[in-house]
Amino acid sequence: MKKHIKNNVNWVGFLDWELKKFHGEDYSIMHGSSQNAYLIEEEKTVLIDTIWTPHRFDFVENLKKEIDLKKIDFIVTNHGECDHSGALTALLEEIPNTPIYCTAACVKSLEGQYGKRGWNFKVVKTGDSVEIGNGKKLIFVEMKMLHWPDSMATYLTGDNILFSNDAFGQHFAVEELFNDKANQCLLFHEAIKYFTNILNPFAMLAANKIKEIKNLNLPIDIIAPSHGAVWRDNPMQIVNLYEKWANAYQENQITVVYDTMWEGTTKIAHRIAEEIHKQSPNTVVKVFSIAKHDKNEIMTEVFKSKAIAVGSPTEGNDMLSSVAGWMAFLKSLKFKNKKAAAFGCYGWSGESVKLIQEKLKESGFTVVDASVKSLWNPTEETLAQVPEMVKQLIA
Ligand code: FEO
Repeated sequence: MKKHIKNNVNWVGFLDWELKKFHGEDYSIMHGSSQNAYLIEEEKTVLIDTIWTPHRFDFVENLKKEIDLKKIDFIVTNHGECDHSGALTALLEEIPNTPIYCTAACVKSLEGQYGKRGWNFKVVKTGDSVEIGNGKKLIFVEMKMLHWPDSMATYLTGDNILFSNDAFGQHFAVEELFNDKANQCLLFHEAIKYFTNILNPFAMLAANKIKEIKNLNLPIDIIAPSHGAVWRDNPMQIVNLYEKWANAYQENQITVVYDTMWEGTTKIAHRIAEEIHKQSPNTVVKVFSIAKHDKNEIMTEVFKSKAIAVGSPTEGNDMLSSVAGWMAFLKSLKFKNKKAAAFGCYGWSGESVKLIQEKLKESGFTVVDASVKSLWNPTEETLAQVPEMVKQLIA
């Protein structure tokens, strides 16, 4: 069922309440999601994006209930990833020669995924525009690496709507569609989780792109992303947040992350948390077991932190494989401007702390000299290393 956005613009996407994982198993979905597509009906009829492949036939059938498909003059594909392009194959079976406006990289992406089908591509770049009648036009803005090379946004003049695709989105199902109708806590949590886990590796590009968008001085009444709530109440609030998040963001928070074999490393983790609170009562402290908590949620807390402490016992001359896997993910997210420290128990060789420190340095963290290493289970004697490590972390 379509949902009204503004004047002759309607949402025609898919609200995905059942989705639990995204990007394979790589991104956890806690509160549903959506794939947002939009229909503009001016003198020209335009479809902005489609939805994910598994729902493609429902999408086409639902769209038929709203409009004679033959009336669609062209499709804008802001991004080739299959959660937005997945219904093109089914749709173009019905309207095969319909032009598809997209970037050159998007043509490669679509042909790479669906094969060369002779689709009628109209390649666009930043500043190109197309008239859609009634004095309105669509202006295209390349959003390279936000988050794929082919990403693009489309701006509708007159209605002042920015169809931003993945940027400014959230994996969050909002039946009422708009940001002012959504649970605010969940909305902003899902927005920062999305930025952390999907966009942060490209934060510098995001910072530059936001400057570019602001410098255009386009009036923006609505930001309509391809996932989650549509920003109609103070839409620039999410742009301003992105500006902060894209510039080495941190809050007064320290996050302790660990895994354990026989609970010795757990004891150190909890002592570190207590000591942070003791030395710096205004600092928010969070503790997560890598084995027991969701990795995307932990990364969101790391993103908010000014420092982290990472712990693992030594096993097989290395850190635990759970911690090694988590640290590979940590490195890929390219966090900036954060301190870090390492800790862990050992029984024999004791390499884990040094290896964690090396991995943290490789991941761009400023690693403090002090660490906490405990031969066998931590005693008060070994826990006496904690205050100095915390002192260096909060300095
Ligand atoms: Fe929502 Fe990059 O696809």
